[in-house]
Parts: sequence; C-alpha cells; structure tokens
Amino acid sequence: MMHTPALDIRLSNTPCTVYFASDAQAALVDAVRKALEGNRKAAIVTDEHLAASQEGFFRNVFEGLPLCVLPPGESTKTLASVGRVARFCVEHGLDRTSTLFVVGGGVIGDLAGFAAASYQRGIPYYHIPTTLLAMVDSSLGGKTGVNLPEGKNLVGAFHHPSAIFILPEFLKTLPENEFNAGMAEIIKAGLLGDLSLFEALESKDVLHAQHADLLGVIRTSCAIKARIVEDDEREGAAAAGRALLNLGHTFGHAIESVTGYTVYLHGEAVAIGLMLAARLSQDLGKITAEEVARIGALLKRYQLPTRLHDPLSMEHLLAAMQRDKKNRAGELRLVILESLGEANTISWDDYPLLKRLWAEVGAVY
Ligand SMILES: NC(=O)c1ccc[n+]([C@@H]2O[C@H](COP(=O)([O-])OP(=O)(O)OC[C@H]3O[C@@H](n4cnc5c(N)ncnc54)[C@H](O)[C@@H]3O)[C@@H](O)[C@H]2O)c1
Repeated sequence: MMHTPALDIRLSNTPCTVYFASDAQAALVDAVRKALEGNRKAAIVTDEHLAASQEGFFRNVFEGLPLCVLPPGESTKTLASVGRVARFCVEHGLDRTSTLFVVGGGVIGDLAGFAAASYQRGIPYYHIPTTLLAMVDSSLGGKTGVNLPEGKNLVGAFHHPSAIFILPEFLKTLPENEFNAGMAEIIKAGLLGDLSLFEALESKDVLHAQHADLLGVIRTSCAIKARIVEDDEREGAAAAGRALLNLGHTFGHAIESVTGYTVYLHGEAVAIGLMLAARLSQDLGKITAEEVARIGALLKRYQLPTRLHDPLSMEHLLAAMQRDKKNRAGELRLVILESLGEANTISWDDYPLLKRLWAEVGAVY
C-alpha cells in the first residue's frame, strides 16, 4: 500500500498534524507515552458502540487508561454529557497538565472536544475519528460544541486537537449508510475546492472501506478543508472563507431541522442540499445542466438521495433556512458554485426562485 504523508494544519496558536494509517498508529502510541510522562494523567472518551466493538484497540493502545463511555448518537451531544465527562476527569484526578484522547465520530468529537476546551479552562486533546465524516470533516477545524433543546451546536468553542490520527481500519465496521454520508462531504469538498478530486471520484469504481484508493481520497479531502481553515480560522471572513464549507448545508440543515434529525443522516440531507446548490448555480448561469447531472449521478453512486423521500412543507423549509446560523443581518447567505471545483458565498433574497428549486426536489405548498 502507498505511504500517505502526514498533513500539517498551520494554525495561529497550536499547530495540528493529521497522521494516516501506520504512521497514525505509531504517532498515537507516541502521543500516549508523552501524555503520561512525569506522572501526568490522561483519559479516553468514546461511545458504547466503539467501547464494545474495539475492545482490543483500547487495550493495546491505551493500556488501562480510564475510559469514559457515553451513549451513541446525536442525543448525547448535550451540556449534561459535557458535565459527565468533566466529572469523570475530576474523579480520575485529571488536572491542567492532563490530556484527553477522543475516540469516535462527530458526536463524541464535538462534545469531548468541548469538554477539553472547558475542563479547567482548557486541556489538550487528541482525536481518533472513527467515522468517514469525522475523518474528512468534523475532526478538522477546531469547532467543538453541543446542542441545546432550542437548536444544534448552539454552545461551543474553537479548540483544535493537538493531532488527529486517521486509522482506516475503523471504517470496516461502519454501517454502509454512515460511510456514504461521509462520502457526501468528500464530494462536497471536491465541488467547492478541487475539480480533480471530483473527477477522480467520477472515474473510480465505488469506494468502500477496504478500497486501495480510499486513504488518498480522505487525505485530499482533509487537505481541502485544512487550506480553508488556515485562511479563515475563526470564520471571520466577510465573504467566502470557512463559510464555503457550508456548500449545500443551508438547504441540508433545513431538511434535518424540519424532519427533527430523525429521517436523514446529516450527509444524506447535505446530498439533497448539494443538488439544490447546484441547481441554483445553474440558474445563475455558473454551471450547466450537464454538470448538475454529473453531481446527481455521483451522489447516486453512493446511494445518496438527490430529492426528498417524502414531501416536506415549503413554508417550514424556508423558515428553517431563515434561522440558519450563517445568515448575516437577516439576509440569507448561500454558497454557490462558480464552476465545478470553485465556490463562493452570496446574499440571497429571491424567495420565488428558492421555492421553485425546493419544489423540484419534492417540497410542497
Ligand atoms: N465540528 C465540526 O466541524 C463538524 C462538522 C460536521 C459535522 N459535525 C457533527 O458531527 C456529528 C455527526 O458525526 P458522525 O456522522 O460521525 O456521527 P456519530 O458520531 O453519531 O456516529 C454515527 C454512528 O456510528 C457509530 N460509529 C462510529 N464509529 C464507528 C465505527 N468505526 N464502526 C461502527 N460504528 C461506528 C456511532 O456510535 C454512531 O452510532 C453531528 O453532531 C454534527 O453536528 C461537526
């Protein structure tokens, strides 16, 4: 197998390195050893699925470090869970010199990253992402946080992991729909930042956990996000910047919100959102109908939806879009494609056009 070199994310304070495969294994063992030097303490945070299925990994790599196991799923991403992690840290004597090792998907990454950001005003953490989505998206960029009953990710902090260890073996046990949801974010990365990634995905046979090309695709996708994060670490840019990573997301978040986060996986909702963003870009004369069809065809190869399973209310979808966190001064902010491989942000107030696009994917009045 080809060697996949580490990727450095250049940040204003702490640098963050992403290690892949056998390098990741070796770097992780080293990080555990260093975290315990001079009698310092460390603990692991994970979820029940991983604690049950990866017992050997925890035993071999962490050799008896205390393991904080939380229930799996989005409903765990709460302030109460952050409290649970913090109290676990107190119970096991972790202080300001201690380290957390976070093993899980985006839910555990976001919540345990936030626990690390706030425990004793901030301790370092390492992330071992175990879903494809976490490997290419949520582990990078330092956004940590939890949900409130009023909405998703409403409480959080920027706190980058000291390093990210990508071990593709984890993907062997990941359910296929979760794998495909991660592919939606990879397709998004190609669309907004790298035409050659998009074209490579088109030309390859369907990727799966054991595919020889998967690690290279994961690294390319990480590199696209890393470049954007480096240029706009705290999402302060007036236009473009980190907001570009939201391609398809304003539509996707609206679908998730209207369906109560129970019908579509995040990546599935994003897939429909990507179609809507593509159609909008076509209507603006930026891309062609053939290019929109290429995007749809690639999403379908990963069994991702390109229209709603069941009709949803147009009114509810538009109301959800208006509540999106990325809007500025009451104006909708959307990401469009300038071409395949290049995106931009725009302010948007043409609701009749949005309604027409939503109707195309199955929304109803
Ligand atoms: N911080 C960010 O920048 C960012 C970006 C995108 C998404 N997110 C967040 O990520 C979360 C979604 O993350 P996710 O899609 O990774 O979901 P997840 O963490 O809920 O994991 C999905 C499911 O897969 C299970 N699982 C994880 N790894 C496994 C493995 N190797 N084998 C078998 N099962 C495994 C989990 O237990 C869970 O049941 C959302 O809360 C979203 O808000 C954050």
